[in-house]
Amino acid sequence: MIVVGVEASCDDTSVAVVNDKHQILSLNIISQTDMHKLYGGVVPELASRLHLNAIEKVFNDAIDNAGIKLSDIDAVCATAGPGLIGGLIVGIMFAKGLAVSIDKPFFPVNHLEGHSLTPRLADENLKFPYLLLLISGGNTQIVLVRGVGDYIIIGKTTDDACGECFDKVAKVLKLPYPNGVEIEKCAVNGDNNRFDFPKPMINESNADFSFSGLKSAVIRVVHSLEDVNGDVSSKDKSDVCASFQKVVCEILDKKIRFAFQDERVVQAKVNALVVAGGAGANKAIRETLQKIACDFGVDYVAPPLKLCTDNGAMIAWAGIERIKAGYKSDLLFSPKPRWPLSDLS
Ligand code: KG4
Repeated sequence: MIVVGVEASCDDTSVAVVNDKHQILSLNIISQTDMHKLYGGVVPELASRLHLNAIEKVFNDAIDNAGIKLSDIDAVCATAGPGLIGGLIVGIMFAKGLAVSIDKPFFPVNHLEGHSLTPRLADENLKFPYLLLLISGGNTQIVLVRGVGDYIIIGKTTDDACGECFDKVAKVLKLPYPNGVEIEKCAVNGDNNRFDFPKPMINESNADFSFSGLKSAVIRVVHSLEDVNGDVSSKDKSDVCASFQKVVCEILDKKIRFAFQDERVVQAKVNALVVAGGAGANKAIRETLQKIACDFGVDYVAPPLKLCTDNGAMIAWAGIERIKAGYKSDLLFSPKPRWPLSDLS
């Protein structure tokens, strides 16, 4: 089975061709980063126009790179939510048009389900059920993945997402966009014990997170370090980044260990701890998760970095999983800017 996946829910226009033998035949991405960089963040209207300009070329190149003909395609999938409505419309309408023109079924895919199932694309041996930490710019959730379309949210952020917190801290430090990666780089030579940042909700008996208090505390410290021109020395920046990253890892560590003891997770007998989403590219976070998995005696699965951030392959793969699980195509599906994972179960 050969499936095309289209992703345009935020600031990357991506099309991939994937087969059901876990092979990515092509993965093409045009990033809008350089354009949004000028404004310090994603501008939704600009994003949708850029998707519109890029999508045809991204698709044509993906087909050429895969070395297939249009008649080889068995199904077309697109991110139908959650995300920025303009980009979702561009991606979904392109995919529907393609599906109709080649007379093949169209499958709307939930972006978060794409992230949740992609570890199985990268690792053929990953079996359900598993415990997933989904950490992206818009989401922070601990999910018990029991099967395709079968998700139980064990913990979630009550305010900001983890990636968003990285982004806001980077912005106040005047680090370049995109931000999470810059924090990680800047933290390398920093003293991670210099600042004692708060860990909101850390002592509560649940697996929920709060990142907004941490974000505000870091912002306050950064302002206190600014000189008369509003600049912060590179040593101070490194120490802030290192201390911040350490606290994020400590929060994730505590909450995931709590999630492992949740009755539903214990009963499910999970096979692995899995990470997905953009902030899952962070090396310190990955090391933290590896240690937890080891302590609980389960496998640790982290997809390759290029599959952590938004991409068309995860959408094609989630489509393949849905098709195999017997879900029906839906050409009339309208994009949903808000579409929680729990709605799929
Ligand atoms: O999943 P993703 O590509 O996009 C969506 O949120 O949909 O995730 C992007 C997020 C951003 O907040 C970015 O700052 C964060 O992932 N991120 C990182 C790293 N790389 C990306 N955060 C921490 N460390 C990184 N290396």
